[in-house]
Amino acid sequence: MSKKTALITGITGQDGSYLAEYLLEQGYKVYGMVRRSSVEKFDRIDHLIGDIELVQGDLLDQLSLISLMEKIRPDEVYNLAAQSFVPTSWAQPTLTAEFTAVGVIRVLEAIRLVDRSIRFYQASSSEMFGKVRETPQTEMTPFYPRSPYGVAKVFGHYITVNYRESYGIYACSGILFNHESPRRGLEFVTRKVTDGVARIKLGKQDELRLGNLDAQRDWGYAGDYVKAMWLMLQQPQPDDYVIATGKAHSVRELVDIAFKHVGLDWKKYVKIDKAYLRPAEVDLLIGDCSKARKVLGWEPTVSFEEMICMMVDADLKLLSEEDKGG
Ligand code: NAP
Ligand code: GDD
Repeated sequence: MSKKTALITGITGQDGSYLAEYLLEQGYKVYGMVRRSSVEKFDRIDHLIGDIELVQGDLLDQLSLISLMEKIRPDEVYNLAAQSFVPTSWAQPTLTAEFTAVGVIRVLEAIRLVDRSIRFYQASSSEMFGKVRETPQTEMTPFYPRSPYGVAKVFGHYITVNYRESYGIYACSGILFNHESPRRGLEFVTRKVTDGVARIKLGKQDELRLGNLDAQRDWGYAGDYVKAMWLMLQQPQPDDYVIATGKAHSVRELVDIAFKHVGLDWKKYVKIDKAYLRPAEVDLLIGDCSKARKVLGWEPTVSFEEMICMMVDADLKLLSEEDKGG
């Protein structure tokens, strides 16, 4: 049988890098879409260069997406590209809508025009539940987004469902709860904390400024979550799935675990800074992934505490290597 081919948008992001590794292990030919930049930032996929093929395209440019579908004729498309940082979505709401909402329809249109048998995965988000209508959240829970990012993701979710129902495209929406790793961007709270703890431990920083310590999230490990993306595209019928651990933790607990891991008391270092509070907050997210467990046979393998300790250790190593000029 010939190799399956996948196209990943957002390959330079956290999830793109883990998904590319996983698809290569499954024997796929992997193409990664990158947008033009004057400086190439491929830190997360440097180790994959040579095994994957990078192709240029942009979610803002319809023709580039059609051309890529025609050139590659992928079996599967994973649409991971987005403006994914929630606070930026208040500062740049229109751009967020262009990338994160309208970008989805551009990828779907390219599939509809070129080859409707291409399977499509949309990176939807628990941020769509926002001010939650029920706890825990399932595939049936109504959405109530609290940020321009969340609103854009709701559009992406429903347009995916609509192209499945209108054109019979095998299109799935994965409603993924927060997932983290040592490759997480430094602006997200888990990595901000683990990087901050490592810097404080190494004497490079003396405080860590944070916003709302009461917010609670259902945090999982990114390496586990990309497997669920793949599983969704291997089923007899396309469908939507919640992917979560079913356990919530507060930012305060996150901080406590990370500081304790290096033998420090967080209360001496953490300062509350109003600049990190949001115009509208999502207080508590907790997912019920029973459907994914039953239909996909998926389950999380890394606990919250294990993941935070893994991230602190990785940041300590990274910063120590930088010191040695490595
Ligand atoms: P990330 O690290 O922020 O990566 C985002 C990716 O999108 C980057 O590769 C970025 O490329 C690319 N991108 C942004 N705008 C683009 C454009 N106009 N054209 C082409 N590429 C563009 O995000 P992530 O954490 O890996 O998340 C992956 C996806 O899952 C995102 O859609 C996110 O919204 C969604 N999601 C994430 C989580 C989570 O907890 N991580 C949970 C639910 C859903 P550059 O390198 O060029 O910037
Ligand atoms: N970023 C950040 N920085 N968040 C902070 C801080 C801080 O200094 N202090 C407290 N928080 C709180 C935020 O207010 C929020 O309630 C929580 O920590 C998590 O923030 P983020 O890590 O920025 O993630 P997010 O939940 O807003 O969004 C992430 O998860 C979504 C899935 O629910 C992103 O990955 C989204 O792209 C994703 O869709």
